[in-house]
Order: sequence, then structure tokens, then C-alpha cells
Amino acid sequence: MKRREFLKDSAALALASAAAVAFPGTGAARAAHPQAPARDFRYGPSGRFKVLQFTDTHHIAGDPRSERALLNVRQMLDMERPDLVIHTGDIIYATPALGCLEEILSPMVERRIPFAVALGNHDGQFDLSREGLYERILSFPYCVNSPSDKGITGVSNDVLTLSGSRGTDRVFYLFDSGAMAPSGGYDYVHYDQIGWYRKISRAMTEAHGGKPVPSLAFVHIPPREFSDALRNAARQLCGNSGEEPCPAQYNSGLVLNMKEMGDIQAVVCGHDHDCDFVMLHDGMFYIYGRYSGGDTEYNHLGLNGCRVFEFTEGDPSFRTWVRLYGGEIRQRLRLGPDVTRLQEE
Ligand SMILES: [Fe+2]
Repeated sequence: MKRREFLKDSAALALASAAAVAFPGTGAARAAHPQAPARDFRYGPSGRFKVLQFTDTHHIAGDPRSERALLNVRQMLDMERPDLVIHTGDIIYATPALGCLEEILSPMVERRIPFAVALGNHDGQFDLSREGLYERILSFPYCVNSPSDKGITGVSNDVLTLSGSRGTDRVFYLFDSGAMAPSGGYDYVHYDQIGWYRKISRAMTEAHGGKPVPSLAFVHIPPREFSDALRNAARQLCGNSGEEPCPAQYNSGLVLNMKEMGDIQAVVCGHDHDCDFVMLHDGMFYIYGRYSGGDTEYNHLGLNGCRVFEFTEGDPSFRTWVRLYGGEIRQRLRLGPDVTRLQEE
């Protein structure tokens, strides 16, 4: 779909859902695309809410090697019919960046499904900077990311909420894990980003009667705990660990801070295409998405697909599974504070 058509499509939409949502601690109100849905989501009549994660589409517009990525994105959306899509980065893989974005994001726009992104290390390598690319993404209808101007490192740091009848029920944090660290190796979530997270987390907890709100964190580059826990005999694993994780070069304390705040149940990442596992270690779930791209990058797991998260109002546990292209479901798991064993349902 061409950009003109995007805008035409969006112009036809009602503005009823464009309510501004201010987030405690951020000082940022919704100010991006005026047709974007609200960033405080609500459970549907079923009391359930489904988030679909795509990752590492590495999309090249018009390239036959990317056909499989487009087919996958369309099929996953039609099979799962999610309430929200979160793309955990490495969205595109060529110039022109805008053309690649338009092609790979169009399935969400066409289906009017809200989506958010956490940029990957490759996303700013082409003819748009990370800032420029993020600005373009913000202009897409149904993009629910907020402007990057939060005074902290990175551009795609964000927070989305899911509310039930008794207020905020879930929080989804999106962290921008950058590209490369100054001294080489992969970049990391910086101290100022962690401070930003702590501020919002504290405000959420205070507004929730002093009880942390169950939350998930989405980030492209895995924090170092993914590697550390994988080597620990006490960890439990479900799914594929087809390559050694390539985590952030430094441990900036992100996971430790999450533990201190007591709200993040799972860290969800992309980046390592041959991993799609759920790992439980020391009370934290470490989760990879399922490679969603085509043949523009390495992938040895076979079929591409996506990961799905399903939340039920008032329930601190949640469900997750991997959906493969063609329809097969793997890793059907219930995860939550009472779960001490990973057991497929
Ligand atoms: Fe990637």
C-alpha cells in the first residue's frame, strides 16, 4: 500500500478513539498520529486481551526473499486476530527504509490493528536514522507509539497500559536497546532509561494501592541475564535454543531494577533468530519471540511465525504460545507468579 492510500484510509476513520492519555512520570501525552487509537487499552467483552509479537522481519520491499515475511505477517494476524501487535525490532533491512516500512506494516494498517515497535539494532542502518525512522513509524495510522522526546537515551522507549473495570490491570514497557555499544558489542538499556522505567513503575504501584501492576518488558537486544540464566543448571526451558544468545555488551542492571520494582514478570526480546524459548530462572520469565521474517537473514528454525500473549482481566498469570506459519501451535504455556515449573498445556 502506498503512503497516500494509508493517509486516505486513516482520514476515513472516526476520531473517537484518539483520546489523549497522560502517563504518570513521563509527562508525555499522546501527540503522534491523530488517528491513532488510545494507548490505554481495554479488555473486550470476553475479558481477554491478546498481544501478538512479531520480531526480526528484516523486510526488503519488493524482494522475493521477503515474500515469506509478508505472507507470515498477514496469516498470523488473520489466525490470531490480536488486539495489539508489538514488533520487537529489526523491522526493515534495506533502502528505501520508508518503502520497506510501508510494505511490512501495511497488514496491521489494512486490518486496523493497533501496533507498537521497539526498534532493533539494524533499523537505523539505512537511509533514515533511528530518529527519522521512528518519526515515520509514528505517522502510520494505528501506530500507538508515543513521540521519542522523553529526555532519555533511545527513541522507542514507551509504555502502554491495559485497563479493566478496576483500573490499570497490566503495563507493557518498551525499551530501546540501541544498536552498538561505544566499545563494540551490542548496545544496552542505559541508566537514564532505567530511571525512566523506575519512575513510571513507582507511580503505577502507588496508583494501585502500593501493589505492583503485573507488567511485561519488550526489548530487541536481550539483557545479559538471558545468557547467564541459560548456563545455570537451575533454569527451566521450553522451546528452541538454536544459537548462543548475543546479549547486550554490558549489564546495566535492567533486570535487577525490574526485580527491585517487583512488577515485570517477563522480559521479551528478539535479535537471536534461532531462539524462540521461554526460560524460567530465579522468578523471571525470559522469552524470545519467534522469527517472523523471510530469507533476507539467517533462520534455521524452519517455519517462521510469531509469539502470542493472552491476558485475562484480574488474572496475574497469562498465557503464551508460538504460532507457526501454516497454523501449528507450540509452547502453549501458562506463566505467572505461582508458576514454578514450565509445563506445556
Ligand atoms: Fe535480527
